[in-house]
Amino acid sequence: MSFLPKPHGGKLIQAFDPNLNVASIAEEIEIDAIALSDLELIGVGLFSPLTGFLGKEDYENVVKSMRLADGTVWSVPVTLPVSSEVAEGLKVGEQYKLRFENDVYGVIEVSEWYEPDLHTEAVEVYKTDETAHPGVKRLFERGSVYVAGDVTLIKKPEKGVFADVWYEPKETRAFFEEKGWKTVVGFQTRNPIHRAHEYIQKAALETVDGLFVNPLVGETKSDDIPADVRLKSYRALLDNYYPEDRVQLGVYPAAMRYAGPREAIFHAIARKNFGCTHFIVGRDHAGVGNYYGTYDAQHIFSNFTEEELGIKPLFFEHSFYCNKCEGMASDKTCPHSKEDRVILSGTKVREMLRSGVLPPSTFSRKEVVEVLIEGLKEKTTVPR
Ligand code: ADX
Repeated sequence: MSFLPKPHGGKLIQAFDPNLNVASIAEEIEIDAIALSDLELIGVGLFSPLTGFLGKEDYENVVKSMRLADGTVWSVPVTLPVSSEVAEGLKVGEQYKLRFENDVYGVIEVSEWYEPDLHTEAVEVYKTDETAHPGVKRLFERGSVYVAGDVTLIKKPEKGVFADVWYEPKETRAFFEEKGWKTVVGFQTRNPIHRAHEYIQKAALETVDGLFVNPLVGETKSDDIPADVRLKSYRALLDNYYPEDRVQLGVYPAAMRYAGPREAIFHAIARKNFGCTHFIVGRDHAGVGNYYGTYDAQHIFSNFTEEELGIKPLFFEHSFYCNKCEGMASDKTCPHSKEDRVILSGTKVREMLRSGVLPPSTFSRKEVVEVLIEGLKEKTTVPR
């Protein structure tokens, strides 16, 4: 008997078929890197119960009420945008190859296409229509017509440096079982893991059997620390400070949406598909700038019952090192003033790292900082 949660919607979608004969499919649709990542994640079941890119009814329901048309909780639209010129040539019921750069990675059977109300999508999903928001900017830049239909993944993109930490949900589920973990907490991040992250992860781990450190390595905005550099820093941290038998590292290969509260729900569902029973939501989860309130991504969970979500969020308050407490603490546990607390903004830390200045060990582990500084130095020769 498994203690792990059932995949979202009840069944792990498996839509990968490398032997699918595409020779008879003449037409193709060109897709971008985000659609490629979505295609793969639908194919391997990380986005279960989705079997393809959203149709109009599901899309409108997701935008308006955070549910698919059948009522299943789903908070962020997964869509395939194309230009109106491309849409003009499409036929309902036809299959199209999905091409990224020079390779075909999948097939879609087109069920419909429609013009989304992008303004409504921006305001409902991202809570703003400002293009200064990186998710909204991308939303308006991608195509103005959404193509819907079930997909089959026929080729998995190269994993590069992530090869040994790229697991499909069926694999994570198998090794959680193998380790005998009955409860597993998932942790999302798009950043290096600093002391505050480590603190909330370990506080969570005190109450469950295993920790799944699951950094996002899909598309992020250009000033976020590149995923390959972060990966080295995660390894350095885990090697030095985490017990091997309680912690598993694996990447979350989706694109970052920066949709704050909505994305927290989306992140939780994907982690449930990986087999996690719990999911960490700290301060301003998946937020950017000042678009969301510090705890909005926690409050949004009250819209859903525990049964329909199927994964338990673990909420953490803003955490930091406090010089008076002489340890990690949070707004909930520390009575001291701002001056006693080591709090550095992400922007400030990135600046320090890029100029080779070491953030204090009360903020970030020495081993992590060293790897980041080294990694970022190498990046200056590569255009980003
Ligand atoms: S993101 O993926 O949510 O955008 P980030 O790395 O900032 O990335 O945060 C990862 C997780 O740690 C999120 O759940 C976030 O809420 C939480 N978190 C980040 N910093 C803190 C902090 N200082 N105190 C408490 N939680 C935090």
